[in-house]
Formats: sequence, C-alpha cells, structure tokens
Amino acid sequence: MALRHFLTLLDFTPEELKKLTLRAIEIKNEHKQGKIYEPLKNRVLGMIFEKSSTRTRVSFESGMAQFGGSSIFLSPRDTQLGRGEPIEDSARVLSRMVDAIMIRTFEHEKVVRFAEYSKVPVINALTDDFHPCQLLADMQTYHEHRGSIEGKRVTWVGDGNNMCNSYINAARQYNFELIVASPLGYDPDKALMDENASRVNLIRNPAEAVKGSDLIVTDVWASMGQEEEQNERAAIFKEYQVNPELMSHANSDALFMHCLPAHRGEEVSASMMDHNSAVVWDEAENRLHAQKALLEFLLCNS
Ligand code: CP
Ligand code: NVA
Repeated sequence: MALRHFLTLLDFTPEELKKLTLRAIEIKNEHKQGKIYEPLKNRVLGMIFEKSSTRTRVSFESGMAQFGGSSIFLSPRDTQLGRGEPIEDSARVLSRMVDAIMIRTFEHEKVVRFAEYSKVPVINALTDDFHPCQLLADMQTYHEHRGSIEGKRVTWVGDGNNMCNSYINAARQYNFELIVASPLGYDPDKALMDENASRVNLIRNPAEAVKGSDLIVTDVWASMGQEEEQNERAAIFKEYQVNPELMSHANSDALFMHCLPAHRGEEVSASMMDHNSAVVWDEAENRLHAQKALLEFLLCNS
C-alpha cells in the first residue's frame, strides 16, 4: 500500500472508515478476552505534543504497548522543535527513525507540512481545526450502542471548533445529517459548512436544534490556546449547556457524547455526565481501540 496519512477523516474512504469501526470493535473484544496480539512488535510511534493531553497520549502509548511496539513522547520543551528547528527537517529526521508519527499542535497547516516531508504515516492527534482520532472513537461508540449512524440526525451544541469541523467531515463520510447549534460569531469553518450544505444545517436555538436528534454532542467553550477568552465565552455560550432538560427535546433513545475533558456547569451539567443517555466513558475508552485499528491499518497493510 502507498504511504497513507490520517490528517482528517477525508483521507480515508467511507468504506475504509466503516471497516475501521468494525475492526476496532473486534480488537476491543479480543483484547477484553485476554488475547495477545502483537502486530507492531519492534515498531515505534513518535508522539509530538505541543498541547496538553490525557486520553490521546495514554491511548496511543497503551495501544502501541499492547500491540508489542513502543512509543516516544516528544514535547517541544525538550526537543529542537521547540527551539525553532523547521518542521520539514524534523519530519525528515524523525521519519527515518520511527515507523509512524502522531502530532498534536496548533495550526493544521503544520501537520500537513510535516506529512509532506515524512516517509512514514502521520496521524493528526488534534489541531486547531480538526480532531479526527476522536471521531473514530465517537463513531465506534455510536455503532456499539445503536448500530449504524447512517441516515441518523446528530446535533452539535456549542463552539464551532475543531471537534465540530470534524463532525462536519463525519456527516459526509458516515452519511448522517448534522445540525450545528452555535452562537453567532462561533460557527464552524464556513467553507466546510458550504461544501456540506446538503447535510449540515445551522439552528441557533439549542432546544430546536436537538429536536429529532439521535446523538447530541458538545465540547468545551474555550479550546486549548483560547484560555484568555474563557470569561467572555462563558457569557456568550451560557444558553448552550447540554443538560437533561435540553436532552428531553431530543429523541427518547438519543445518546450524549463529549470528547472530554468536561467543564461541569459550563457546556455540560454535572447531572448530564451521569445521565442514562451519556456514553462518555465508553467514548473515552474507545480512543484506545479505535486508534489500535488505525495503527494496524496504517502499518500492517503495506
Ligand atoms: N479528547 C481528547 O483528545 O482528550 P485529551 O486532550 O486528554 O487527549
Ligand atoms: N476542542 C478541544 C478538544 C480537546 C480534546 C480543544 O481543542 O481544546
């Protein structure tokens, strides 16, 4: 197989994404049964983190270890990347030493440039614009609880951020309808909205937006890098909290997801996190299984 990267969901075909979900479920079940499966023995994942992480770091590290391989955590504080070594040079050097590289950074353009110069698969582990690995876990979680998401209605409540942009890509690749409920001035990427106008619609009123929905999703009001806007955003977004009252306007079997970390009392109420429609812990766990399926796909199909 030619060199493949995973920078957005659009790098894979809908069929590949569907297969990845089914494979992740299989890998999860076998792992829970105690099966030892080490397809990445002696393989190494380089992990560049320019932003904080709990789930992404631990799921990639555990996934590599469970697959018989290993990983190297690289932070800008301790590498030459943080001292201005060009992305292109870092990509050329690192990709001669490891078998795959995952990057969490600010500008999306950085991962694109890194991938251009890399000899090994590059995985986007979150940029300001997209978080495709989270979507693999979300789609798996929906499938496990409710079956195929195809033809369903999903409502995004809150900031039109990297997760929301990724849900727009998901609507296209997994073929569902997406309603975005964001306050004026905080819409997702306009070009992305326009390209997907047949399946993505904006409804600013949250109660109206969740009507007829099968899945409600939210995320923090201020993403990493926007900390100084926190107070201003808290005031603007205050009608955009997902709580049991809002949830009662959705379909009776609707699920609730949040990529975490959650800010209880802001985008989500404490009671919502424990609501019977919330699948946030399964969603977090599935980061591990979904990314193992992704690593297997990128590294074992060549
Ligand atoms: N959801 C997610 O990516 O979490 P972390 O920031 O903890 O990796
Ligand atoms: N939108 C959030 C997601 C964190 C996993 C952020 O970028 O900080």
